[in-house]
Amino acid sequence: MGENQLAALPGLLLGWYEANRRDLPWRSDREPYHIWVSEIMLQQTRVEAVKGYYTRFLEKLPDIQALAQCDDDTLHKLWEGLGYYSRVRNLKKAARVILEKHEGRFPEDYQAILALPGIGEYTAGAISSIAFGQRRAAVDGNVLRVMARLRGDDTPVDLPECKSRVRQALEEIYPEEAGAFTQALMELGATVCLPNGEPKCGQCPCAAICLGRERWRELPVKLPKKAKKEQERTVFVLSQGGRYAIERRPGKGLLAGLWQFPNVEGTLEAEQVLAWAEQAGLAPRELERKVDRSHIFTHIKWVMRGWYLEVDNPIPAYTWMTPEEIEVQAALPTAFRQFWEEIRENV
Ligand code: ADE
Repeated sequence: MGENQLAALPGLLLGWYEANRRDLPWRSDREPYHIWVSEIMLQQTRVEAVKGYYTRFLEKLPDIQALAQCDDDTLHKLWEGLGYYSRVRNLKKAARVILEKHEGRFPEDYQAILALPGIGEYTAGAISSIAFGQRRAAVDGNVLRVMARLRGDDTPVDLPECKSRVRQALEEIYPEEAGAFTQALMELGATVCLPNGEPKCGQCPCAAICLGRERWRELPVKLPKKAKKEQERTVFVLSQGGRYAIERRPGKGLLAGLWQFPNVEGTLEAEQVLAWAEQAGLAPRELERKVDRSHIFTHIKWVMRGWYLEVDNPIPAYTWMTPEEIEVQAALPTAFRQFWEEIRENV
């Protein structure tokens, strides 16, 4: 695509965006704290899933000060079910840096934004353009797809040089309305230039300059993905007099510091479950039932079997909570919560 053609992009996109933009909670103001929280939540997470979390998070933590002072359990609870929990821990770390280094005001300088924990080039670009009107691009998977198709570009989008070339090409044409342009590109990727299934080229404001229209099935080009490692786990939902056994996960590694049901590696059959219970010092009264579930993380897939087990003795190795206490106090990640929903439906 010639430079001149790409130069037409802001003109085509901005008018379309004004007329077609979705009304989303984080689009009602340009407060940097709000834009920051929304962009962190929207990483790897769908807009529909984020909406409710965003509103609740800001109700509970209305400013950077409140975020910096929030205890980790409350923070995890606000993030429960969103996944990638390091995102919220980094939010708090960054809030503390902003209090210490920037007098509590979100920094405007791009390099200062980029230096904050949990903020990479994508998020720094999004905040700089949306909150501060700077001509900075925010290149995520959606924007890479839009640009690969628009330019008929076969460079695999997983390559870092692809991302930096796209960013450079965009920043050369960034208009004065920088925040609207950033969001217009995202909006086009989310509602028109779709990732799965046929894009809506008939509705696309850029169809006339698009070099990939006939090749949408092939674009963007992606490198083959490594297969995820699978790990089998057996999860024990232990109950005693209406309380359930949970424990805190280690402070480091996957789902650090969150809560879980007791679990072991491998897929255990009924007699192995009873043997495990015995060595744990539990007196099982009844082995109720099992359910099989799985959960996919970034690099690993857990193939899980859950066993529901009523016991006589609440051994002190675990924290025994009522369902209400678990709901209020313990952030139970989705991998384990799947077994919890089973109970709630059956109570
Ligand atoms: N995805 C990432 N950032 C977004 C935003 N600001 N609006 C809609 N979708 C997004």
